[in-house]
Amino acid sequence: MTLSRRRLLTGALALGATQIAVPIVRRAGAQPKFSRSPFTLGVASGYPLSTGVVLWTRLAPTPLQPGGGMSPEVVTVEWEVATDERMGQVVQRGSAAATPDWAHSVHVEVEGLEPARWYWYRFRAGGEVSAVGRTRTAPAVNAAVDRLRFAFASCQQYEQGYYGAYHRMLAHDLDLVVFLGDYIYESSWGRDHVRKHGAPEPHTLDDYRVRHALYKTDPDLQAAHAACPWIFTWDDHEVSNDYADDRSEQNHPREWYLQRRAGAYKAYFEHMPLRRQMVPLGPHMRLYHRVAFGNLAQFHLIDDRQYRSHQPCVAPGRGGSAVVEDCAERLDPRLTMLGDVQEKWLETGLDRSRARWNVIAQQTLMAQLDRKPGPGQRFWTDGWDGYPVARRRLLDYLGNRKPTNPVVIGGDVHMFWVTDLKPDFDDTASPVVATEVVGTSITSQNGRKQEDVDALQVDNPHVRFGSPTKRGYVRMEVTPQRLRADLRAMRSVTQPRAECDTLATFVVEDGRPGAARA
Ligand SMILES: [Fe+2]
Repeated sequence: MTLSRRRLLTGALALGATQIAVPIVRRAGAQPKFSRSPFTLGVASGYPLSTGVVLWTRLAPTPLQPGGGMSPEVVTVEWEVATDERMGQVVQRGSAAATPDWAHSVHVEVEGLEPARWYWYRFRAGGEVSAVGRTRTAPAVNAAVDRLRFAFASCQQYEQGYYGAYHRMLAHDLDLVVFLGDYIYESSWGRDHVRKHGAPEPHTLDDYRVRHALYKTDPDLQAAHAACPWIFTWDDHEVSNDYADDRSEQNHPREWYLQRRAGAYKAYFEHMPLRRQMVPLGPHMRLYHRVAFGNLAQFHLIDDRQYRSHQPCVAPGRGGSAVVEDCAERLDPRLTMLGDVQEKWLETGLDRSRARWNVIAQQTLMAQLDRKPGPGQRFWTDGWDGYPVARRRLLDYLGNRKPTNPVVIGGDVHMFWVTDLKPDFDDTASPVVATEVVGTSITSQNGRKQEDVDALQVDNPHVRFGSPTKRGYVRMEVTPQRLRADLRAMRSVTQPRAECDTLATFVVEDGRPGAARA
């Protein structure tokens, strides 16, 4: 109790909740003159409710410097929300404090808006005006909704390609974008770089701020944020590869790693349109969240990094993942992917949901994937295959409690997968309890060949589709009768704004788990 109250207070003060911070700002009188626009990172919105939405920006005239080129003073940022894109009919306005403690980021929780409608917004500071962003409120809680259009994306290694996928998303007139992790990458890897991080691997808060700012300078990413609200979960690369709770891949000293994680989480908060309740406290940040879209869809966004058990079956003194055969430790029922609290939260939320579609938005491939063609089995321990008992518990829960139309979406593995989720993947008689669609990466590479994926089909009969060679995203259209998933594939990511094609379309009918190729 003490902890959560302290957390709330810290958050409110630090974020400059309007009521608290504005008088301080007026005393400070900080309205600096900028020699160049401080709105270099664009604008964004997120987490729509039927009555409001989060608006975000960050002041950073020179974004690739620590501190963004701002002097260490509090700055008043004015915001306004209008019902037209020319900002003629302003329906809400206010001001927020951008503080140096939070890298002069601004998170405004606008309230009092109407459900299911488009709004436009912008910010002003020191005589400079931001770009205009567009956002949309969710439908009223129990409203009958006949359609939802969203896209989901993951894994955008900056060096490995341009973000043309976001440019192509703009054509779909989406209500929402769901981002499933690896928004930044800490390391430089892969081949054929089209641009460079220009800095070593981040370890400190300042390092992570610069990395986030670099990614956010991309114009196509900015345009996608300015086009509709986003909701989020994260994966490992927002901190470092294959971390699990307090343990890094290199098994760094725990205290050092938690300090690194605290910096990474804070920089993440500063750069995303997140709700105030998500504000980090040291190395802890509650990101898992539900977002409802009327009676049509409920998103259950889960965090499988922060609370998971260390990956099983690694050599003593190591962290990270392995590809293993015959490792009994993997089957330990004490291994958890979500942690007890979040697992209960997810189950309760699924039980209470009255939505026609329950979208479980998570990081990675949930289906079992035996990677060894022929006799024997081989599994990668960083995904759900490292935590098979926890997975079975969740899939048994779906089978027994039968929440309406569970659909699992994921990322992480840089390829498209469409699978049937079953409590027991080794038993062909085990029922299909949910449909899974994993989207490929925005840019991050995958060296696998199609024939290697095809060779896994016999050992993984619950896999309906697997394609490793394309970058892109998934567009989804949801109606009360069906969910349609278009797997969208870029022709290139080394060319800016290349064309995008639909590689395959799958449909799930209401009440019938399992996707059929359309
Ligand atoms: Fe990734």
